[in-house]
Amino acid sequence: MSVAKTTLPDILGKKRRGEKITQVTAYDYPVARLVDEAGIDMILVGDSVGMVVLGYENPIPVTVDDIIYHTRPVARGAKKAFIVGDLPFLSYHVSVEDTIRNSGRIIQEGGADAVKLEGGKEVAGKVKALVDVGIPVQGHIGLMPQRATVLGGISVQGATAESAAGILEDAFALEEAGAFSVVLEYVAAEAAGAITERLGIPTIGIGAGPHCDGQVLVVHDVFGVYEKAPPFARKYADLRGVMLDALKGFEGDVTAGGFPGEEQTFRMDQGEKNKLDKLLDRA
Ligand code: KIV
Repeated sequence: MSVAKTTLPDILGKKRRGEKITQVTAYDYPVARLVDEAGIDMILVGDSVGMVVLGYENPIPVTVDDIIYHTRPVARGAKKAFIVGDLPFLSYHVSVEDTIRNSGRIIQEGGADAVKLEGGKEVAGKVKALVDVGIPVQGHIGLMPQRATVLGGISVQGATAESAAGILEDAFALEEAGAFSVVLEYVAAEAAGAITERLGIPTIGIGAGPHCDGQVLVVHDVFGVYEKAPPFARKYADLRGVMLDALKGFEGDVTAGGFPGEEQTFRMDQGEKNKLDKLLDRA
C-alpha cells in the first residue's frame, strides 16, 4: 500500500493550524520504519550519530559521508516522514559552493528531503543560496553543539534578555533567508515562546520549553539506550535494560548449554544419518 509522503506545505500547515509538529532522529532502516509507523512528521539524520552510534565525545568528527551513509537506510525505511540530513562540522563553513555541493550530496546520494545547519545571521547567505537551488533548509540556533566550545560548553542559551534578543534576530535572519523551520536547542522557554510567536515558520524545540511549534528528540534518548542523555530529554522506554537482559540471557544460555535448543537445531533424516555413520566408519 502506498503512503503519502509528508511535504513542506504539510509541515507549514501544522503551524498555521496550531498543531504540534514531531521530529526524532534516526540513523538506520528499522528505526526509520518505526518512526513512520508511529506517525512522526519528520526525521533528522543528525550529527548526533557521532555520539549515540559512533561513540565520539562530540559531533566534530562526523563527516558528510557519515551522514549520507546513515541517510540511505533511513530513506529506504521511511516512506512518509520528511527526512532532514544534518550538515556536519565544516561542510558549510568554507564557501557557498561547498555548502551547495555537500547539501546536494546528502539529498542526491542519501535521499534526504532537506538539510539542517547550525547558525543564525552568519549562515543566512548560505541558507539563501541553498533555497535558491531548491534545497529546503532547517535552521538550528540556541545551543549549537558544533560550536559548543565557543559557546562555553553545554548550557542554556537565551537566559538573559540580551541573549534572547540575539537568538530572535538569528531566527528572523533564517526565516528571511528562506529556512522552512528552525530548531531551538537548549533555549530558555520564555525566549523560545517569544520567537515562536513572532516567526512565520515553525520552531522545533529541544530543551526549549513547551511553547515551540514542535519538538525534536534524539531517538536513543527516547528509547533510553544512550547513557549520557541531556537533562531535557525524556526517556519513553528503558530499552538499554531490555537489551542488556537479552544479552545476559544469551550469554547465560550458551554457557549453561541451553542454547541452541531443539527448536533452533536442524537434523538429518535417519537414512542420511546411517549413511554418514557408515562413511565415517570407513574413513
Ligand atoms: O544532531 C542532532 O541530533 C540535532 C538535534 C539535537 C536537533 O541536531
